[in-house]
Amino acid sequence: MSGEAITLKDGRVVRLRAGVPEDGAALLALHHASILTLGQGFYTNAELEDWASGLTPEGYGRAMKEEDFLIAQSGVDQTLAGFASFKGDEIVGFYVHPDWARCGLGSLLLERAEAALADGGHAIFRVSASLSGLPFYLTRGYRVIQQRLYKTRGGLKVDIVDLEKPSSP
Ligand SMILES: CC(C)(COP(=O)(O)OP(=O)(O)OC[C@H]1O[C@@H](n2cnc3c(N)ncnc32)[C@H](O)[C@@H]1OP(=O)(O)O)[C@@H](O)C(=O)NCCC(=O)NCCS
Repeated sequence: MSGEAITLKDGRVVRLRAGVPEDGAALLALHHASILTLGQGFYTNAELEDWASGLTPEGYGRAMKEEDFLIAQSGVDQTLAGFASFKGDEIVGFYVHPDWARCGLGSLLLERAEAALADGGHAIFRVSASLSGLPFYLTRGYRVIQQRLYKTRGGLKVDIVDLEKPSSP
């Protein structure tokens, strides 16, 4: 099996690799599960369904032309555990599957994504995060720039937060 193997804090192993357009269907399933499950308590069900709407398998392949995708997959059965996408100085997409939440996978993906942004010469990392991602980013050293309304793919306006972090403390 290809990709760097990493053991998470609960003992499970993930492998990291670059995303490819053929991952589209699996990325879509992970993305839906992450929004609809981990967003509970932060947004209403209507808002979550709206946020999760309009995604297609092909959309990931199109995004890969502009963004780098880093994928974590199970070291046992190769199902996708999480992904990060990034470009320029920005974390664009960032989702962990609920079965893999709170095991340090988000922290691992963020460290690797930030390292890639720093390699690109960026002094500040930026992210526009959902309220469900906010506690995570605060733990990871980001500071809030502003809270604002964002129009989701489905058309509803939901609260999100713009954050940033210097590449070296
Ligand atoms: C946000 C997200 C990526 C975090 O992934 P994760 O793999 O669970 O993160 P980690 O296990 O590395 O968490 C690191 C720390 O962040 C904090 N944290 C993470 N999720 C948290 C939550 N829901 N509430 C409070 N703190 C949280 C904790 O301090 C955690 O450490 P601990 O588990 O030892 O207490 C994941 O919950 C997710 O995909 N959410 C849905 C989509 C989303 O909001 N994406 C982000 C921006 S769009």
